[in-house]
Amino acid sequence: MITLDGLVKERVTLACVDSTNRYALEAGRPGLLVSADEQTAGRGRKGRAWFSPPGENIYMTLTLAGADPRWALVTGAAVHTAVAVLAGDCPCLLKWPNDILIEGKKAGGILCEARGGITAIGIGVNVNQTVWPAEIAATAISLAGATGRSFAPAEVMQAILAALETWFALYRTEGLEPVRSYFRAHSRMRGSPARLEDGTPCRVVDISPEGYLEVEVGHERRLITSGDILPDPDRL
Ligand code: BTN
Repeated sequence: MITLDGLVKERVTLACVDSTNRYALEAGRPGLLVSADEQTAGRGRKGRAWFSPPGENIYMTLTLAGADPRWALVTGAAVHTAVAVLAGDCPCLLKWPNDILIEGKKAGGILCEARGGITAIGIGVNVNQTVWPAEIAATAISLAGATGRSFAPAEVMQAILAALETWFALYRTEGLEPVRSYFRAHSRMRGSPARLEDGTPCRVVDISPEGYLEVEVGHERRLITSGDILPDPDRL
């Protein structure tokens, strides 16, 4: 049973929608939680599609008033907190800016989109799916695939909502510092060799106080504000 708490004022549950983010942005009001059993045009980061078959996974969007690029990191910490508990002994990592990885494969992603004074925080978590389209078969995993047990999506969603309440309250009172510490503790990329999107080798230093990824390219420090950082193929 999902209760309406601090962040969530109103709830819409859909059997099928093109994208919960699109629906929430068009509704245009804060405090709306939209979830669906299936998306026909699920959106991923960087214009990618988010594969969203019916009944197996979580597709949810929460709207907040205003816009803050750091919300993407706060949400990453929250979703990781919930998913890591459910993943039990399976290693669950957080990859900047907000990928949730289990056993090095993608189990969840977050897409924040802002329009007209509202930010839609879209969260997709692979829960019970075990069969994947060929193009993501090598890189995707679900909680069920990792742990060998199945999960009630409503309970997973409730755990995520509880973690969102906790992390957003913490962000309001303490700023980004707790999120930065959490990333340091739950990401293996810090200090590791990695590559920028254009293939340039680099080393991840930290997350900056603004929430950017601080990397070293040779002896030069750079701040990565968006995009992906790719792990060295042998690490993660
Ligand atoms: C990513 O590419 O890592 C982000 C994926 C975000 C997917 C979620 S599913 C619910 C919400 N609605 C969308 O269309 N996308 C997000």
